[in-house]
Amino acid sequence: MSEQPQILFKYRNVENYNNIDVYMKHEGYAAARKALQMEPDAVIEEIKASGLRGRGGAGFPTHIKWNGIPKNWDKPHYLVINADEGEPGTAKDRELMNKMPHLLVEGCIIAARAIRSNRCYIYIRGEYMEPGQSVRKAIQEAYDKGFLGKNIQGSGFDLDIHVHMGAGSYECGEESALMSSLMGERGMPRHKPPSAPLPVISGVWDSPTIVNNVETVATAAPILNMGGAAYGKIGSGRSLGTKLFTVSGHVNKPANYEFVLGTPIREILETAGGPLNGKPLKFFIPGGSSTPLFPATDKFLDLPLDYETMMANGSMLGSGGLMFFDEGVSVPALMTRLMHFYAHESCGKCTPCREGTNWLTKIHDRIMAGGGRHEDIDLLLDICNNIGGRSFCALGDAAAMPIQGALKYFRHEYEALIPDRSLSSRIYAPLPVAAG
Ligand SMILES: Cc1cc2nc3c(=O)[nH]c(=O)nc-3n(C[C@H](O)[C@H](O)[C@H](O)COP(=O)(O)O)c2cc1C
Ligand code: SF4
Repeated sequence: MSEQPQILFKYRNVENYNNIDVYMKHEGYAAARKALQMEPDAVIEEIKASGLRGRGGAGFPTHIKWNGIPKNWDKPHYLVINADEGEPGTAKDRELMNKMPHLLVEGCIIAARAIRSNRCYIYIRGEYMEPGQSVRKAIQEAYDKGFLGKNIQGSGFDLDIHVHMGAGSYECGEESALMSSLMGERGMPRHKPPSAPLPVISGVWDSPTIVNNVETVATAAPILNMGGAAYGKIGSGRSLGTKLFTVSGHVNKPANYEFVLGTPIREILETAGGPLNGKPLKFFIPGGSSTPLFPATDKFLDLPLDYETMMANGSMLGSGGLMFFDEGVSVPALMTRLMHFYAHESCGKCTPCREGTNWLTKIHDRIMAGGGRHEDIDLLLDICNNIGGRSFCALGDAAAMPIQGALKYFRHEYEALIPDRSLSSRIYAPLPVAAG
């Protein structure tokens, strides 16, 4: 197996690492001190050299986002941390916030310095009570040590961080819906360019805003400690550095793991203890429930897990929720469960997603109950084609893509569930009467 540098998880097993004194004995707040001595643009240059891309799902280069903040406006700038983590199969941000909350707080100081923001909001998924408490405690400790508040460490830079608990809506992880929710509005997405400006121009309270995932921002501290160029030497192509993956399902050791981007999926599976009880695997989902599945064949298990390879093979790296399923799992049954989730979480703003997720659910229910029709399979694909790329936000695509993947490789499982009506009509047809 290849060497796996542990960057975010370097001190994962240190006892009381969530305590600021322990954290400071392990390089803690050295990167923040460094950033406070640097010009904001120099901080962005380090992030650029590292090649860091957003870890929330889309993989957008972080330095481009940070650089988009206007340089000479007198409006306040806001840093918003997306800690909603609603994607089924993903629980990495939860562990970061629970066990290493100071990595996030330190990352916030660095990001805020880079974008010249004096106010940061951490929007935490409503169900994450424990991570919420952990982050709040870390913030208080950072205030007590003079790493937050006015004139941090004598640098002349001020920063306040507020925690905002969401109310358990998947859609509120979509950055524009998150901003609406943060401002007390309904958690529905906003118009996007070209009909509306980007959040870096008009985000929360009509001011320049950066929304970043927990892991993205937490990675800023180790990047500054080791140097952007050194971080950028890890990985390959445009998939640089390490990433946290939540490995779950039918494996012997389900957990969060840190791997260099581009590590073969088979190696990740082996590190996670291999298939549960040695039972053969049937398929896996590479990046959270919104990403299309792959059959667990040699061809796909040998793929390097990085942004480009996943795209080239018709799926996505997503949020890093790698789920394995053995032969006992029915693909249509899993898709039925997922469609109930997406239909429930659809905010209802646009027709393709509101109506489409509902129909996808109903048709799956019908097939699972034994009442499916042969034309249902093409109908599912037709509905998916009418949701994908036609919805107001990416939740619609997130609902359609898994079914497209499932039908690409496991159409036969759907077909097997559909009763052969021509056969049943033969069985119940009157028997021919013998002549004579
Ligand atoms: C329906 C939906 C849910 C999302 N949920 C999350 C989430 O829970 N956490 C997250 O970081 N990004 C989530 N995203 C992606 C965000 O919109 C956004 O791309 C991300 O916060 C940007 O941060 P990054 O550049 O650091 O990745 C979601 C997107 C969609 C469409
Ligand atoms: S795709 Fe449309 S209905 Fe679905 S969550 Fe987004 S805005 Fe709401």
